[in-house]
This record gives sequence, structure tokens and C-alpha cells, in this order.
Amino acid sequence: MTKILVINGPNLNNLGRRDPGQYGSMTLPEIETAISNRAEKLGVEVAFFQSNHEGAIVDYLQESSASADGIVINPAALTGVGYSLGDALRDAGLPLIEVHLSNIHAREEFRRHSVVAPIAVGQVAGLGWRGYLYALEHMSHHLQEGGAA
Ligand code: DQA
Repeated sequence: MTKILVINGPNLNNLGRRDPGQYGSMTLPEIETAISNRAEKLGVEVAFFQSNHEGAIVDYLQESSASADGIVINPAALTGVGYSLGDALRDAGLPLIEVHLSNIHAREEFRRHSVVAPIAVGQVAGLGWRGYLYALEHMSHHLQEGGAA
């Protein structure tokens, strides 16, 4: 079965408590449940990982990408500065979609730059927790169509 890694970066373990005006009131486990439900409908397998540490995400990608087909990732504050994360994503060689709950393009300048965007199939930003579902759905179609990284 097609397998998609859903990865969340620093501070996203605090969703629900963290600046709900920007990030909404859903917790990460609640969002992951919604993603699992959508995955079941789409007939794809998902694996979740969250860390506050860039190196832990790099380790996870090195361990998990060989057995996966695609990646949906919210790199959070690593988006603009996570060069080792960007390299690990590039090395994974899998199609990836970048997700942000908030519209990073309507916020502070430093949030706009992304080391992930140039290697992504696309970016979803500003659509809240449903952005993960849209990204998952698109990745599922992309892979069905034989989509490359
Ligand atoms: C975020 C946006 C980032 O700028 C921020 O550092 C986050 C969350 C988002 O989902 O909107 O932690 O990636």
C-alpha cells in the first residue's frame, strides 16, 4: 500500500494551546486522527512523526524514507533555516508537500523564506488543519499518477 510520512516540526506538539488565532484550536493528535480517517478513505497508509529537534527529523527521514512513497511536512520554524532538514528531504528522493497552518506569506518576513519549497511538489499555507488533508489527498493523486519527486 502507498505510504505517506506526515512530519511535524518544532512546537507543533503544542497545537491547541499555542496561539490559536494563528494555528487554530485542534491539537496535533486530533489533526492526526483526521488525517488517518482521510487516509483510510483514500486507501493510503500514513506514518506520523513530530519532533522539536531538527536532527531527530533527519534521523527519522534516513530510517523511514526507503519504505515510504511520499512526504507531507510542516517544517514549522525550521522552514527558513533547516538546511540539514532540506538536505535530508532532498536525499529522501520522495515527492513532498509543504504544509503551514497559517498563511506564512501574510506574516513576518522571516516566515516566508523556505528551504523546502524549491524541492516540494507544492505548498499549502493558511488553510488551517484541513491543509494537511488537502496535501494528503493531492499526494495520493500525485502518486497514483506516477508523480515524481
Ligand atoms: C507554521 C508557520 C511557521 O512560521 C511557524 O514557525 C510554525 C508554524 C504554520 O504551520 O503556520 O511553527 O509552520
